[in-house]
Amino acid sequence: MDLPLGTASGFLNPNTMSDDDWFALRLDCEQVFTPGTPIKQSELFAGRLAQIQKLTQRIRSPGSHAIVYGERGVGKSSLVNVFKFIADQNAARIQYVRVGGMADDTYTSLFFKVFKRISAQSSDGNRRRIADYYINKSITSDDVLLEFQEFPGSVTPIIIIDEFDKISSRSVKEEVAETIKLVSDEGANVTFFVVGIADTVADLIEGHESIGRAVAQVEMPRMSDQEIIEVLHPRMKNLGIKITEDALWDCVFLSKGLPFYAHLLGLHACQTACDRHKVLVDSSVIAEARSRAIGESNSTIRTNFEDAIHSERRENIFFPVLLACALARKDVSGRFLAKDVATVLSDILGQDYGVPAFSYHLDQFATYERGRMLEKLGTARQFRFRFREALTEPYIILKGKENGMLTGEIEKKYGPTRQADLFST
Ligand SMILES: Nc1ncnc2c1ncn2[C@@H]1O[C@H](COP(=O)(O)OP(=O)(O)O)[C@@H](O)[C@H]1O
Ligand SMILES: [Mg+2]
Repeated sequence: MDLPLGTASGFLNPNTMSDDDWFALRLDCEQVFTPGTPIKQSELFAGRLAQIQKLTQRIRSPGSHAIVYGERGVGKSSLVNVFKFIADQNAARIQYVRVGGMADDTYTSLFFKVFKRISAQSSDGNRRRIADYYINKSITSDDVLLEFQEFPGSVTPIIIIDEFDKISSRSVKEEVAETIKLVSDEGANVTFFVVGIADTVADLIEGHESIGRAVAQVEMPRMSDQEIIEVLHPRMKNLGIKITEDALWDCVFLSKGLPFYAHLLGLHACQTACDRHKVLVDSSVIAEARSRAIGESNSTIRTNFEDAIHSERRENIFFPVLLACALARKDVSGRFLAKDVATVLSDILGQDYGVPAFSYHLDQFATYERGRMLEKLGTARQFRFRFREALTEPYIILKGKENGMLTGEIEKKYGPTRQADLFST
């Protein structure tokens, strides 16, 4: 069934729209669909209740901290951004400071960035930037402790260190862990959120064991189908654009739980509709949006993909195997087994494929020559694979749809289970 969702009024009437109106609508699309830019307003933020709750509990108890980790593009930065507004509703005054880690950061450069963003009352009654005192000096964990101990009790500073994974120095990361331990042991009035791309807390922050009970570990999983719908549907309604149920499920399937792709597809779908002077997104609009989204994907992903499927021989199965990996059943950490790939691959190619027929290909996908698409985990008896970069998975699916290898039938079998009751939003 391909009927438009929602019966509410407020949808635009394409017959009365001028060229200027279409142009304005196109620009509005870019305001609500923002692939690549973290959400900064709580009204635009969808789902993630469990994670918000965990963070809220944190700041209720002083001296506690959180580590937010997960794949690229799942919404970590957005979560900590909007948390600012949620936390503001609490009684204590919050001073919210966010800095991003960089490859060459030292402990001093990192905390200098933090100190540039906070001011304190000095003895003469004037406010001063804390950083001013540290120009051309190095900063130690003891300095950090003292600065926060001097903070008035009525204000709780929340210090977010985002993109923590980018910092290349192990010892800097360890020192940050030690600092968190120090401020929590001393009961200083400060909350740290450390945010970055990682599978586990241990991957993100060295020496996290020592922080122990003082940190909440907040894993950002991929979004549920419902959450992806919550990202897309209200935004479309807001623009006055309708979407059919089929088209919405197409987006859910193609996004693979990554809000980044939901935004990318949503943007191109709405703009494609505008270009056709329509206020309806249906499956044919999605098909065009898909091609536009592919064109706009990150060039590293594109190059790695081309490397992965390249072959001199026409009769090769690199692409179908890669597609089967993208569609294969995953555990919560995105890992999958070769036997699950076999099932999907047999469906794609229309004949039975056993694991030995493509285990060479799986191994190849882990090499530099083939773009290091996959990593191989575990031991000989229990090998598992996973995509090294989350954002490549939806890309492969987009390509599979584009070239026709991924048919509607296969999509039905390996795509999301459609639930009619998810459209309350
Ligand atoms: N809860 C959410 N609701 C709506 N959009 C979201 C949400 N979380 C993330 N996004 C969008 O998804 C994309 C990736 O989010 P981001 O926070 O930058 O991810 P990460 O920091 O994990 O890489 C951005 O376009 C952002 O606007
Ligand atoms: Mg981020």
